[in-house]
Amino acid sequence: MSQLFSPFELAGITFPNRIVVSPMCQHMANDGQPSDWHLMHWGHLALSGAALIMIESTAVEANGRIGPHCLGLYSDETAHQLGNVLDRVRKYGDARFGVQLSHAGRKGSSVRGRVALREGGWRTYAPSAIAVGPDWPVPADCTMQDLKRIRHSFAAAARRAEEIGLDVVELHAAHGYLLHQFLSPLTNRREDSFGGSAKKRMRFPLDVFQAVREVWPTSRPLGVRISGSDWIEGGASIEDAIAFATELKVIGCDFVDVSSGGIATGSRPPQVTSSYQVPFAAAVRTAVGIPTWAVGMIVSPHQAEEILAQRASDFICLGRAILDDPRWPWHAAEAMGISIPYPEPYSRSHFSVWPGAHERWKGGLKSGETVRPA
Ligand SMILES: Cc1cc2nc3c(=O)[nH]c(=O)nc-3n(C[C@H](O)[C@H](O)[C@H](O)COP(=O)(O)O)c2cc1C
Repeated sequence: MSQLFSPFELAGITFPNRIVVSPMCQHMANDGQPSDWHLMHWGHLALSGAALIMIESTAVEANGRIGPHCLGLYSDETAHQLGNVLDRVRKYGDARFGVQLSHAGRKGSSVRGRVALREGGWRTYAPSAIAVGPDWPVPADCTMQDLKRIRHSFAAAARRAEEIGLDVVELHAAHGYLLHQFLSPLTNRREDSFGGSAKKRMRFPLDVFQAVREVWPTSRPLGVRISGSDWIEGGASIEDAIAFATELKVIGCDFVDVSSGGIATGSRPPQVTSSYQVPFAAAVRTAVGIPTWAVGMIVSPHQAEEILAQRASDFICLGRAILDDPRWPWHAAEAMGISIPYPEPYSRSHFSVWPGAHERWKGGLKSGETVRPA
């Protein structure tokens, strides 16, 4: 009995399997709006067999973008164009689509390095005026007015996400972006009620979650990507992640997606090993009793199956594995001998009827060699 291909209900939506496409920035948007690249990118992922495709980190304000070519949901135009592309993609296939809402904070106005103001960059905001590194500008520390505006921007973006029919919203509170900057003691040195103790550092991200919860329907999942570790001495730890997830659950969070790192230069594990972040997802799931998504170096279907069987997480988030092989779910099902439906025009390539399916990973056929019937 496969766990990977078993259904799971989250906030009223039943997902047919546990495969989620992890949010992945494409840096192919113009003025926050998707391009033809997105039509192709989401088009092939929509046929992949994954239950849910999470749209890349999508800015809630223009100055909350990571770089000038990030996607946004910060205006009616950005929402209209995103809805337009999604309508065309959703015409075929029944994968669900969700969006990761984000504000880049001090990591904004950059793509692999800083985009200067004169090159179309913008002034950045953060909990405290601490630069990412020596080559980065010092961000402005958020005033109370900024906090109010950003909170409102998250809620407005969630409302737009609902209007264009997105099924899931995830707030990005990991990888060193604004909400994570509030959570981590390395980046939050505020002396007001939004900084200091772990409880105070959680306050703004929880306020933002609450504002989104008020507008996002309870019949659709709302979750948060959190950070299991800053991987730096003195940074946030798994205990902080558990405390944050505990508070999130109380105010109506449906799931947490557990990643790590990115808060500063060197904020990464000493070695990236297979399933390296899964123990974080497992720890949060056990301690808090909230559905979790596991992500990071999950490569093979058997690895995914094992993670689910061990009850370390409820969903498997795939990043590079599904960019590499957008038919990963088809091939996973085939490896497990499970028949999942293919889109009708591709039905003749289904492994149950196409004899080549059994041969393709075995070193190839010689010309003229007979193929074993399916
Ligand atoms: C091209 C690319 C873009 C990414 N963009 C985002 C993003 O927008 N938001 C996010 O939370 N993580 C982002 N990530 C991280 C992935 O979602 C995922 O957590 C990471 O790649 C680890 O999973 P993997 O080993 O399956 O690739 C990105 C990763 C890649 C490879």
